[in-house]
Amino acid sequence: MRIGSQEHRDAFCTHFTQTYIEYDPKTLPWPVLEPADLKRLQAVPFWEEVFYTERRAGAIVAAFTETVGDPVLKAALAMQGEEETRHANLIRVMIDKYNLDAPERPMEDLGPDIETRFKDFGFGECLDSFLGFGLFKIAWQAEFLPRELMQIFATLMYEETRHIVFFINWMAYTEARRGWLARTVSPLTSLHYYLRAVHRMMGLARRGKQMNDGQNFAATQVSVFLDGFNFRRFLEDCYAENSRRMSVFEPELLRPSFLPQLASVALKALRLWSVRAEVEPNTVVLPPLHGALPGEKPHLAQVNQ
Ligand SMILES: [Fe+2]
Ligand SMILES: [Fe+2]
Repeated sequence: MRIGSQEHRDAFCTHFTQTYIEYDPKTLPWPVLEPADLKRLQAVPFWEEVFYTERRAGAIVAAFTETVGDPVLKAALAMQGEEETRHANLIRVMIDKYNLDAPERPMEDLGPDIETRFKDFGFGECLDSFLGFGLFKIAWQAEFLPRELMQIFATLMYEETRHIVFFINWMAYTEARRGWLARTVSPLTSLHYYLRAVHRMMGLARRGKQMNDGQNFAATQVSVFLDGFNFRRFLEDCYAENSRRMSVFEPELLRPSFLPQLASVALKALRLWSVRAEVEPNTVVLPPLHGALPGEKPHLAQVNQ
């Protein structure tokens, strides 16, 4: 299959739309939390940021969808926009249900160049998801929150995985159709957008640190989650989880490769350099990859696994 061909477009759009999961955030099996679990959930410092990020994601994808002429791409992008808005609604339901301190911030102006905004958002999602895979695994293993709640987050993670696979294919398809020059420099284009994503993430981390300075409420609660945290172990989890999650996608689809490759090189260097004992193998059973919610009908991707 040639990247940039109609066959390629149909493959990544069809896969995306066929793996859609139907659910309403309000009727999900939200568990009643024990006081200690509730306290831990309330102490997570980033719900306001997650809520804003999902609302912003919905707005960016919806605005970009308006500019797309190709009906196949437009339908798939519209679905992604709806999923992002549903993520925001899911977070809103959780905030209300568990009384989390996460006010709704005013939405920023998205600016006139919505295509660049969409690309920034797409590469940002690739970075967030790669790190999120590792964090989710650590939280799952630490039983940071009850399984029923983690299972709801697992569905969200599955949808984000579909988004980044869709985005990477859309990006390659779009660049290939712009001609040989865009195709040739596309690794540099990706690098450029990844660096912008890292820069934004560092800015966010700096702002988060400033906001949380003097308020150590989160540190003690979240320490359960990060107990025994070590960077190499975290990177290994990100890498392994990325491979596991990507394994369910059709082999002919492209996957994000820049961060896994970078992580692989970094891990080799860390292994050579580190004199620490080998990380113990994980024996924990991780959530299923399809992201289906309890009591749901399995969908196509699940059946095909
Ligand atoms: Fe999302
Ligand atoms: Fe997403």
